[in-house]
Amino acid sequence: MDKYDKVMDLAKRRGFLWNSFELYGGAAGFFDYGPLGCTVKRKVENLWRDFYVLNEGYMEIEAPTIGIEDIFVASGHVGGFSDPLTECADCGQSFRADHLIEALGIEGVGALSTDQLDEMIVAHNIVCPECGCKLGKSFEFNLMFQTKIGPGTGRPGYLRPETAQGMFVDFQRLSRFYREKLPFGAVQIGKSYRNEISPRQGVLRLREFTQAECEIFVDPDIKTHPNFDKYKDMTLTLYPQAQQADEAGKTIQKTVGEAVADGTVAHEFLAYYVALTNDFLISVGIAPEDLRFRQHLSDEMAHYAVDCWDAEVKTDRFGWVEVVGIADRTDYDLSAHAKQSKVELSVYIEYPEPVIETKFVVKPDMGKLGPLFKGKAKAVGDALKELSAEAIQNAGDEITVTVDGENFTVPKNLIAFGEESVKISGKTIVPHVIEPSYGIDRITYCVMEHAYDEEEITADAVVSDDEGDEKEEGRVVMRFKNAIAPYQAAVHPLMGKPELSAAAKKLFNEIIAAGILSDYDESGTIGKRYRRNDEIGIPFSVTIDFDTIEKETMPVTIRDRDTMKQILVPAAALVSTLKGLLAG
Ligand code: GAP
Repeated sequence: MDKYDKVMDLAKRRGFLWNSFELYGGAAGFFDYGPLGCTVKRKVENLWRDFYVLNEGYMEIEAPTIGIEDIFVASGHVGGFSDPLTECADCGQSFRADHLIEALGIEGVGALSTDQLDEMIVAHNIVCPECGCKLGKSFEFNLMFQTKIGPGTGRPGYLRPETAQGMFVDFQRLSRFYREKLPFGAVQIGKSYRNEISPRQGVLRLREFTQAECEIFVDPDIKTHPNFDKYKDMTLTLYPQAQQADEAGKTIQKTVGEAVADGTVAHEFLAYYVALTNDFLISVGIAPEDLRFRQHLSDEMAHYAVDCWDAEVKTDRFGWVEVVGIADRTDYDLSAHAKQSKVELSVYIEYPEPVIETKFVVKPDMGKLGPLFKGKAKAVGDALKELSAEAIQNAGDEITVTVDGENFTVPKNLIAFGEESVKISGKTIVPHVIEPSYGIDRITYCVMEHAYDEEEITADAVVSDDEGDEKEEGRVVMRFKNAIAPYQAAVHPLMGKPELSAAAKKLFNEIIAAGILSDYDESGTIGKRYRRNDEIGIPFSVTIDFDTIEKETMPVTIRDRDTMKQILVPAAALVSTLKGLLAG
């Protein structure tokens, strides 16, 4: 068993992750979160909210998970959100053509056409991994799930492949909500759907998954982040484009400030969110030594993107896995939706002080244009005002403009022109978008894998811990961060005696009332219960024994999951002690 198998075995046995629809034989690409997995996932999501909603101030919205066709025509998903699919001529199984080639250790096939992929499949004698037969010609398979909105033929709709579009479509409303002051942003945490071709990597590649996305609308002329100092000195492990080309596999360490100063990361705004992502991922329990930020290569970056970095986490079976993408998407999204909806999606930015600019101005003599062009005079005047300095200066005695397909020739002596100082109080712009996009399922799995530990128990540790024949056992410990652990504490009577159970339940209720999510368990030996707690990562186990009910101070034992050390505290101080330990 590799680590993936061990984690998934534990996850299934203890109620973290279950294959969906098991009762009916299951379906690839779908997972249920059991009671413990769901709790961990919610905690990851809530910590994410702390970072983005509480600290950054980007409020959460909730848009439908089904979108109408216009949205995905504008976003480009209808036209080009596909992966190359090849099918086995014999068993009919589908595979991603690029993944079959990558499995040979060949990199950089992401941008190849289906014809080029087919050539490589033939050149490398790649056959169906299931039955060894010949593979068919590859074709682009659109990953969106299509549906119909309403009965009858219905209007086409799609399950959203990303949450991001909700923020773009609501741009005008959001802009007003934030009093039209850039930068502003909004987030969504919710389900996205992609009909992945061969989802064979547990929760790392799902057909229904949870994204937490933030869309920050910025003034493209301002590339500095107001809180940049917060992360300026943080050291990041970076894997920039140049490094990937020159020293494949070797990362570099740089502070956020250095990475911006030497141009490794395009600008402060992007670097700030790379750093915030680093901060968040380490806070949820990703091991810093197994975390890197990889810059997209030019051929994998969307054509409109300025710069894009993926947070990648090292896993035992799948190697480096992308868990977050952080991109400068320019004005692509808003411009695309403006074009599709025919509604201008822009903001007016008032300058703090008006600026004086010299402008070339054209002033047609409207008094003389009126009798010449009758009802068309104003339109002709407006067309003249649009002319450039060159067009006017290079013209002869007459200038011709076209209005509604009709040509109008105007004597140049009826047009005054020249440079003039004008007071400009603001500008209208289409904001650019900085997008940190997180895959919550991938993060949750990676947190579990990095928390997983098998430990030999040393004689020293045993003395202060369990008794009897369990002394020599090793243990499996999920070393979750306290804030992420599914239960924060567990309460146990030492043995199943009614007087111990009554005292234990009373303390358990006090702990729950204090908001500490806890488990209560009185089955099996205390040593076995500790092992069960360790295996699901409960940071503290509280044991009530005869001293608790007999002594005046009512001592209870608190056992630390990681050190297995035990301390005695009076029952009256249990809640406050636990709170202190959990915060530490
Ligand atoms: N709005 C940008 C966007 O959706 P993406 O790189 O396609 O970008 C963002 O997705 C994140 O969503 C990924 O980094 C990954 O963590 C997660 N993700 C994407 N496809 C997934 C899938 N099929 N299963 C699980 N997570 C997925």
